[in-house]
Amino acid sequence: MKQFKVGVVGATGMVGQRFVSLLENHPWFHLAAVAASPRSAGKTYKEAIGDRWAMPNPMPQQAAEMVVLDASDVQSVAEKVDFVFCAVDMKKDEIKALEEAYAKAECPVVSNNSAHRFTDDVPMIVPEINAHHIDVIPSQRTRLGTKKGFIAVKSNCSLQSYVPALHPLMQDFGVSKCLVCTYQAISGAGKTFETWPEMVDNCIPFIGGEEEKSEKEPLKLWGEVKDGKIVCATSPAITAQCLRIPVSDGHTAAVFVSFDKKPTKQEILDKWAAFSGPAQELQLPSAPKQFLHYFEEENRPQAKLDRNLENGMAVSIGRLREDTQYDYKFVCLSHNTLRGAAGGAVLLAELLAAKGYLE
Ligand SMILES: NC(=O)c1ccc[n+]([C@@H]2O[C@H](COP(=O)([O-])OP(=O)(O)OC[C@H]3O[C@@H](n4cnc5c(N)ncnc54)[C@H](OP(=O)(O)O)[C@@H]3O)[C@@H](O)[C@H]2O)c1
Repeated sequence: MKQFKVGVVGATGMVGQRFVSLLENHPWFHLAAVAASPRSAGKTYKEAIGDRWAMPNPMPQQAAEMVVLDASDVQSVAEKVDFVFCAVDMKKDEIKALEEAYAKAECPVVSNNSAHRFTDDVPMIVPEINAHHIDVIPSQRTRLGTKKGFIAVKSNCSLQSYVPALHPLMQDFGVSKCLVCTYQAISGAGKTFETWPEMVDNCIPFIGGEEEKSEKEPLKLWGEVKDGKIVCATSPAITAQCLRIPVSDGHTAAVFVSFDKKPTKQEILDKWAAFSGPAQELQLPSAPKQFLHYFEEENRPQAKLDRNLENGMAVSIGRLREDTQYDYKFVCLSHNTLRGAAGGAVLLAELLAAKGYLE
């Protein structure tokens, strides 16, 4: 595989730090530029981060010495790299404009931000589920007037555990409705217990915009490409409640699901065990070998024990049993800043590279 020079826009943030960590020793991608707000621009990465480094491993030495660029100086960043990862905390319309500016500078953008998730020619991809949505990229390039530049996005971290669990059941059993309660880690808000001490011994029953994302984004993932656009699916009906809980990393979801044709418990377990997708078939470097892991123990999955399964790229599931109101209920977990954010975006970039979209 060709080697790619990569930029991280929003490199000083929680997700940006994950990108910087994941790019250390990546076999295809090499960190060539870091960019953030004007507050950080001009400082070395180490100075700009100060005491904010929140990763378990030390800051990579090469990144520490890089000078942070101003993310709004698009040309300066774009000319140093083959594509960028983007994860910034800005207003939605500013993010839309920034990402389009990079794409128009012929610098593809692989984004963690929500701004373009519902732009109908921007693919939102979980590589195991809807890799074929990359087929809209040529139409997006026509709209933007680019040869190489485009935007591809990752879905929200809240749904990263339950959508992969439901997906392999859809074709044979037809998921008719789903109720989900998510229990989300504080790193999902870009925070640690040091920066958000109010979360110690607490639970906050509101995460702005999260329930809408949890209900609607799965329908885009399950949509189809028609006439150069992604047309969202109209079912299954999903209702969600999203709570913030005092866990550092790892979003848990309690899921209730009904089917058009109710499977046996064993049929569900067999589908989960057998499930793989293009990420595994193409042997992408960040792909988990086994995407869905089922735990028989009744007290699993647990965020602290299971979030790092397969380098934080797998989904853990447990407690599958029949329900009195729905057909079944179960619990699932995924690492929100790895599979749910930076790791998922790196996997998406690997898919795009393997399919020739980053050349
Ligand atoms: N955390 C998660 O688990 C997660 C999961 C999925 C998606 N996301 C999404 O990823 C994005 C970043 O989240 P985060 O948790 O990493 O946020 P964060 O920790 O608050 O980091 C925000 C980043 O944005 C940069 N930034 C702020 N204002 C800017 C400006 N005007 N111009 C350029 N850069 C600017 C910051 O740079 P400075 O340091 O210079 O201020 C920093 O690098 C958000 O859109 C979020 O919704 C997060």
